[in-house]
Amino acid sequence: MSILSGKNVLMGISAGIAAYKAPFLVRAFIKAGANVKVVMTPASKDFVTPLTLSTLSKNPVHSTFYNDEDENDLWNNHVELGLWANYFVVAPATANTLSKMASGTCDNLLLATYLSAKCPVYFAPAMDLDMYKHPSTINSFETLKTYGNVMIPATSGELASGLIGQGRLAEPEDIVRFIEADILKHLPLYGKKLLLTAGPTYEAIDPVRFIGNHSSGKMGFEIAKAAANLGAEVILVSGPTHQKAPHSLINIIPVTSAQQMYEAAHKYFNSVNIAILSAAVADFRPKDIASQKIKKKDSTLTLELEKTKDILASLGQIKSNQLLVGFALETNNELENAKGKLKKKNLDLIVLNSLQDKGAGFKGDTNKITIIDKDGAIVNYELKSKSEVAKDILNVIIKKLNA
Ligand code: CTP
Repeated sequence: MSILSGKNVLMGISAGIAAYKAPFLVRAFIKAGANVKVVMTPASKDFVTPLTLSTLSKNPVHSTFYNDEDENDLWNNHVELGLWANYFVVAPATANTLSKMASGTCDNLLLATYLSAKCPVYFAPAMDLDMYKHPSTINSFETLKTYGNVMIPATSGELASGLIGQGRLAEPEDIVRFIEADILKHLPLYGKKLLLTAGPTYEAIDPVRFIGNHSSGKMGFEIAKAAANLGAEVILVSGPTHQKAPHSLINIIPVTSAQQMYEAAHKYFNSVNIAILSAAVADFRPKDIASQKIKKKDSTLTLELEKTKDILASLGQIKSNQLLVGFALETNNELENAKGKLKKKNLDLIVLNSLQDKGAGFKGDTNKITIIDKDGAIVNYELKSKSEVAKDILNVIIKKLNA
């Protein structure tokens, strides 16, 4: 999944021959999972048709302030378009449009939308090589950069004029990759590695039976998705679950037993900055696993159980600079028990959920948590969806990393 998935991308098209690549760019954004709307300068319609762009983006395409064709919706609202966008991408950006953007000229819908947009703006110039090098054009590039706009440089090659040099619009796939990388770079967990454990563990009794628990893995998977959306590289060690987390920054390591989870967690722990252990690890496992299916020949069956290794506590013992976060699921004396675990397991934070709270716990879609910091701070949160809870937990972690 791309970091652009679910994001609103507003494409601005100005009048250059490279506008013929705009439909490919619309498709590349759609392929990345983005919602796309297009605003054009009137002259750009000579190079690419609004019908093509509207069909590909599945949205109306606007190029004028007035909409003659729909008398119920006469006004094409540039403010609304600007506010809708999470990212505004002007591609191709001609020397004329760039100069107007730099000077604040506002004589078409694209320019008015640019002035209204509060989101990050990218511009991908395309023009002939001498225009690209002209001091006035370079001045536009530099002025726009001082506004915080990001330039996606043109590439070199044969130009429409037949001359060879810099001025070709970057390829649509490269524009998308450039923007994805730029977004990622500015995210609060960019450059951070996160180890997560999630889901239940299954402890084998014989080849067909196991001891397990009701953990759905949802809380851990929501943390993984939220962390990846904040730019972290996530190693998700997961017990058996139906959850999915298709994201280019999430690497899922499937395990079954507590011992396998222990080994995987230890394999990656030294390379990460943060570890969040949300798995519902079995505390006990059968001492001996029967090699054949156990037959029901007797009226009772006694299993001898032995303790599994406490993964969280073992990481607490070896931790150096990692921020270590544990979970505590309690039924009574919650705060004291959680504080005790925080100390005993040498954690930085512990996320407490009480089974006394309706909607909390490891089966449903919601959770109600309290986060306890080893420094003494305790924050209670309302009942929320697990995806919102994941964001709350990560916000506390980001604050702690930046403190
Ligand atoms: N945990 C772990 N390995 C285990 C058991 C628990 O990593 N073998 C982790 C869980 O992922 C969770 C935390 O320890 O982050 C707390 O688990 P919990 O079962 O609530 O606490 P325990 O320490 O096992 O204590 P108890 O069951 O007695 O409450």
